[in-house]
Amino acid sequence: MIQISKELRVRIVGIGKVGSGIVETFAQCGFTVYGVDTDKKQIDNALNSIDSDLKKLLEKEKITDAEKDLILSRIRFGTDLGLIRDADVVVEAILEDIQAKKELFKTIDHLVVSKEALILTNTSSLSVTDIAAATERPEQVAGMHFFNPVPVMKLVEVVRGVLTSKETVSLVKQLAITMGKTPIVSADSPGFIVNRLLNALVVEATRIVAENVGSIEDVDIGARLGCGHPMGPFELLDYLNALPLVLDVTDYMADGLGERFRMPAWVREMVKKDNGDSIACGRFYDRKPSS
Ligand code: 3HC
Repeated sequence: MIQISKELRVRIVGIGKVGSGIVETFAQCGFTVYGVDTDKKQIDNALNSIDSDLKKLLEKEKITDAEKDLILSRIRFGTDLGLIRDADVVVEAILEDIQAKKELFKTIDHLVVSKEALILTNTSSLSVTDIAAATERPEQVAGMHFFNPVPVMKLVEVVRGVLTSKETVSLVKQLAITMGKTPIVSADSPGFIVNRLLNALVVEATRIVAENVGSIEDVDIGARLGCGHPMGPFELLDYLNALPLVLDVTDYMADGLGERFRMPAWVREMVKKDNGDSIACGRFYDRKPSS
């Protein structure tokens, strides 16, 4: 069994906004981490985003120039999936597409040499058991679900697939703690714990607007000032900048858990009007997307 330490070789596959945040967080915590993405543009975006985050920390005097350089020196990016061969830990963070994830897990299983490696998925809602079934080592596959913005949010949801071993769950919890996060454990159910809570709020917020009970702005103010949330549900949806994806996830949750997770028509129309083909389409406020 592997031992959790900062010497572990950590490889992140898929470096969009969350994947890049995972790379940044591992590097900040002292791990040497590779980020792999077949899209070179994602690598450029990740480099810019990490550099800009570290500059902000430098300006706030939370890190020194030398520490910034040290963090950056721990990170390597590439487009070749072969970079994961020597991994002790792989975290997959590609789009929420079950077929794509299953194909990728099959490839990861073939590529990663260490028989002890942990193969983890950052899926926010899909079945970890199904993803694990694409490998010949489902007991070493678990969910390791991070939250946006990854360097700031303190939670990691550890998802136990049907065949995930107790040792794997314990190792992923230790890994999260080593990263300065607090782990919680969820069974493999659509949306797990947090997206079940969060999407119940988000879907209800869209219904409140559909029923003319309150405006988008007032729902957000209500959530912030009445419930103590850092952002209102619509502000959060804009911040995540992925409404079509949220629509897919809530539909998946509605299929598995009940109609209470189904978004109302006006949100679907909004995505359709924006063509639904861009991940960034569908915004509630006329503000620039966050980087
Ligand atoms: N590394 C380390 N620390 C960092 C950092 C980094 N890269 N970036 C920022 N920080 C620190 C800042 O220095 C600051 O510390 P300070 O308070 O001591 O100065 C602190 O983190 C907060 O940073 P900011 O000042 O930039 O942030 P705000 O206070 O404006 O808060 C927010 C922004 C964290 C986004 C807050 O509004 C929030 O919590 N919003 C809700 C986010 C949320 O709900 N996320 C979950 C989304 S759902 C999800 O991700 C699940 C997925 O499946 C879709």
